[in-house]
Amino acid sequence: MSEKFFLILVFLSFSTAIEWKFPADFKFGVATAAYQIEGGWNADGKGTSIWDTLGHNRSILVKDRSNGDIACDSYHKWEEDVQMVKNLGVDTYRFSVAWTRILPEGYATRVNQPGVDYYNKLINKLIENGIEPVVTLYHWDLPQVFSPLGGWTNPVVVPHFANYARKAFELFGDRVKTWITINEPRLICNEYKGLVGDITEDFPLGVSEYLCAKNVLKAHAEAYHIYDKEFRKTQKGKISITLDMTWSEPATNNPEDVKAAEQNRQFDFGIYTNPIFNYDYPKIVIDRVANRSQMENFPQSRLPQLTTAEKLKIRGTYDFLGINHYITLYSKAANEPPFSKPSFKADAGGERFRDENWKGGAANWIKLVPWGLRNLLKWIKVNYRNPEIIITENGTADDGSDFLEDDERIEYYREYLNATLQAIIQDGVNVKGYMAWSLMDNYEWTNGYTLRFGLYHVNFTDSNRTRTPKKSVKFFKSLTSTKTIP
Ligand code: NOJ
Repeated sequence: MSEKFFLILVFLSFSTAIEWKFPADFKFGVATAAYQIEGGWNADGKGTSIWDTLGHNRSILVKDRSNGDIACDSYHKWEEDVQMVKNLGVDTYRFSVAWTRILPEGYATRVNQPGVDYYNKLINKLIENGIEPVVTLYHWDLPQVFSPLGGWTNPVVVPHFANYARKAFELFGDRVKTWITINEPRLICNEYKGLVGDITEDFPLGVSEYLCAKNVLKAHAEAYHIYDKEFRKTQKGKISITLDMTWSEPATNNPEDVKAAEQNRQFDFGIYTNPIFNYDYPKIVIDRVANRSQMENFPQSRLPQLTTAEKLKIRGTYDFLGINHYITLYSKAANEPPFSKPSFKADAGGERFRDENWKGGAANWIKLVPWGLRNLLKWIKVNYRNPEIIITENGTADDGSDFLEDDERIEYYREYLNATLQAIIQDGVNVKGYMAWSLMDNYEWTNGYTLRFGLYHVNFTDSNRTRTPKKSVKFFKSLTSTKTIP
């Protein structure tokens, strides 16, 4: 290349310097979930879910002994909520349907019309205001009726979830064009053991997580195929699953640590993504659970296999990948854990830790590690053939005290949005949307009201559940109106 030509090239690349801006078709949004915001736990014929049961009978498991009976009272204040979403200037609003609000018994035997009316009003109002509804079918509020059967550890839930999904497509699919079947299966299966309030001391750990994972995968696939066969042609929407994706970074470049990090990723989320985006469970998961089961004297693996028919049915059941991202951890190779009690954690192996210098917020598990998100996005691109990605949740928490100057949240969003832009512009990752968790402070599961994730503050001691914009609302408005990071 001649020197002149080279200089022209350098000049051209400077003059067309890449704009640090989100693409025109990129969608911003905010997210919530039914049990965390709605309240109205038994209003107008709603049935009971496992979280209602936990909140009523086992609130000892909740940090502040609270429940979501009223929460943000969105069941009554939905119109105000839509105005708040609109004020943010976002394109999408992700919320979840409470299964027992539309099917109180959990079965598709009887539809509760007032529940349907509630979601119809909400959806119509959003659309009227130019906001696209993104609907999660299952955000953890399993009908209580399935709990004594073992919740998600029992395959009986699968066809009932499929029937519920079909009902939701029938009722709302003329207007809802983006569906998420199930939110964060790892939390459902590993943290809440598939059935929440009824967990007992002798719950079969190291076994139940895998039973649950298999049923969740099958339920997701059933719902996907129902949409695909019965609704896609007329409704023209898209459907997928949302996973919580922790990034595992090798503690050092040592190949053993690199291997440990990859193993942790496969146990954290590969157990779900591999069957959906590739085929079958990840080999490392199959092999490790089989080996450890054998050492523990199990006659077969604690990981129930997928049959060929099941594998084929699960494979390819995505139109995009929904990811909720909050955590980065370092992984380090460790000695094989003892073969005493079966345990998922021991199966996953490795030693995991955070850097003590990472900046953190009120939730001690959330630290400011934006490069973790970028590495995760790149990893997804490479491992699953660059699928469309929607970041369906990202955010940080204030503690329970009341303040509106949430500069830490602004810093957090600024950094993670920048990491997202780096992934899009510099790494060519196909990220199409970003949703903040959360629209407003809400019921943070077993942390009750002690952690506040909202862009809007909610006063939980005021019967009116007054909402007030925090400083981050201004940040978000500027972001959505300019598509650049303020
Ligand atoms: C993910 C869950 O989907 C959501 O319900 C929860 O509130 C956030 N993480 C924050 O913990």
